[in-house]
Amino acid sequence: MTSRIALALGFSLAVFSAGFASAETVWLDDLNLASAEQGWGEPHKNQSVDGHALTIDGKKFERGFGTHAESTLRVNLAGGAQSFSASVGVDDEVNKNPASSIEFIVRGDGKTLWKSGVMHAGDAAKNCDVDLAGVKSLVLEVSDAGDGISYDHADWSDAKFATVEAKSFTVIGEPKLVQVAPYILTPPAPATPRINGADVFGVRPGSPFLFTIPATGDRPMKFSAQHLPRGLKLDADTGHITGFLKMKGEFTVTLRAKNALGTAEKKFRIVCGDQIALTPPMGWNSWNCFAGAVSEEKVKSAADAMVKSGLINHGWTYINVDDYWQNNHDSKDPTLRGPFRTAQGHIVPNSRFPDMKGLADYIHQLGLKAGLYSSPGPWTCGNCTGSFGYEQQDAADYANWGFDYLKYDWCSYSPDMESLRGNSTNYPMSAGSWSGSTPSGQAELMKPYAIMHDALAVQKRDIVYSLCQYGMGDVWKWGDQVGGNCWRTTGDITDTWKSMSGIGFNQDKAAPYAKPGNWNDPDMLIVGQVGWGNLHPTRLSVDEQYTHISLWCLLSAPLLIGCDMTKLDAFTLNLLENDEVLALDQDALGKEATCVINDGRLRVYEKELEDGGRALGFFNLGVEPLKLDFKDFAKLGLAGKQHVRDLWRQQDVATVNTTSGSLPLTIPGHGVMLYKLTAAK
Ligand code: GAL
Repeated sequence: MTSRIALALGFSLAVFSAGFASAETVWLDDLNLASAEQGWGEPHKNQSVDGHALTIDGKKFERGFGTHAESTLRVNLAGGAQSFSASVGVDDEVNKNPASSIEFIVRGDGKTLWKSGVMHAGDAAKNCDVDLAGVKSLVLEVSDAGDGISYDHADWSDAKFATVEAKSFTVIGEPKLVQVAPYILTPPAPATPRINGADVFGVRPGSPFLFTIPATGDRPMKFSAQHLPRGLKLDADTGHITGFLKMKGEFTVTLRAKNALGTAEKKFRIVCGDQIALTPPMGWNSWNCFAGAVSEEKVKSAADAMVKSGLINHGWTYINVDDYWQNNHDSKDPTLRGPFRTAQGHIVPNSRFPDMKGLADYIHQLGLKAGLYSSPGPWTCGNCTGSFGYEQQDAADYANWGFDYLKYDWCSYSPDMESLRGNSTNYPMSAGSWSGSTPSGQAELMKPYAIMHDALAVQKRDIVYSLCQYGMGDVWKWGDQVGGNCWRTTGDITDTWKSMSGIGFNQDKAAPYAKPGNWNDPDMLIVGQVGWGNLHPTRLSVDEQYTHISLWCLLSAPLLIGCDMTKLDAFTLNLLENDEVLALDQDALGKEATCVINDGRLRVYEKELEDGGRALGFFNLGVEPLKLDFKDFAKLGLAGKQHVRDLWRQQDVATVNTTSGSLPLTIPGHGVMLYKLTAAK
């Protein structure tokens, strides 16, 4: 049911009236500019953002509005203005800094009326002259021209309105997001069988194989596979494929799923070689919901819920325990206190995790995989036992227990520890015993990750290796050299628009480094009941959640659900089970989307797909709905006729002629329209 209910429409801040000189001219600086939103500093009347006389390329202006990208000023004209004019440019106070680049944009009643083009420091002022006849609501914007806001000092000099009679123009504050009740876009999976998930799977020779055929449709269901390589067997009732492959090679298998209503078939490629995680890992992690309150029962319940909710039928696989499965050096909680290691150096899990092998076995018999967490320092970020000096033993223990994934953090490691390696009596195993030094170069950043990688590589088990050092030293450039399958590109996410959009819309720098086996990780998902030990429904709005999942899939991000799996509501479940959306993330080509259009509130992300199609995310970063007729197909590299499919609704919506046609879009505030375009024959 797609009912959208507007619950509240709120505009923040007061409305200010203008006092102005004559009936013919209303100066912009006579309006109250204090409600302007800007990325840095304060809005200034008749002065630059730094408080100097407005000056563009040596020319001084007496009047105007000094601001800083990203800047928005909203003026309510009530149809009373004839025109707007200004001389715009970068203020000379930035001293020709090359980082400065901005674009001035004038919008009227939601339409773009004028754009300056990208302007740099030292450019002569540009004249802006815009007809405003009939325009009721005007927005003056300064964008950062897509390269961040450094030195983006922007002057709207000599800015004024021409009017035929004295009208009361008002500046209004930033409107607040309209909250809508959850609305479900994804149609339920059909009762007939359908095989979902990635088309390719990587395994190393000799490693235990476990793959569950993700299939939706009524149960009971019978599975079969044609051309399954020797060494593998399929359980016809569960769809679990297990066994070992001895030799490297590529095998194309035909998977089948049959129920009373029909049969589905899918070609599936098994690649036995050096590389695993050929598509981004998908699963669940305990941190964003339980943090330090995780326990074996909670992890088992999450695994059970992954199956019972049906999410396993869409390719969700890993059940990952984050920090706090080990003993802790300063917790008051007795369940976290105990020896850190045995006399032989084996790590001792805390009393909430009495049987690590039993836990991994439990997860595996459900057809899922198990993950763990550690840190290269003596302590994890939560002050539990870390791996420093015990990497080989820890890797061997993880493998013997049967874990398939390791998230490896950075906390408490410092390069000067390396001199102690091999002399375990000196390892700092008590709180605060390590002063630490910060790494100075790439080699120091790589070192602890290379050590753990070598320890993992000798295990007879495939362990996905996930680096968690927040992007230091541009980890995306070297993460694959230390065997990383994925690496965090940012600090920790939290469940706010600022956090999610700030991370999600700033990944372009790392995008070229994503490929099968190597994924940029913008951190875990924040939909559903999250709260780091203090559960609450995500603070993201409904449309922000559609944006979150769409963007993470476009970015080929590892998808780790961060909520309490036992409390999945219908909306959250629906967000996580759209196979056409998930297929973007799991696309075998492994290209990460980048931002191809950055125009005011609009961001268009494009991702190349293996079948030649393109995924396009049209995002609205503003709070009000954005309506436009999209025509810029050339900027997306698209030509000819294109079929357009709406992926959230799973509906074909149009065939557009990219030279003469347009795609009408209405994008909710902070929301997205997610499409796949395929060349029409
Ligand atoms: C942080 C990490 C989080 C979580 C936490 C555990 O450094 O970014 O995702 O793993 O440590 O203490």
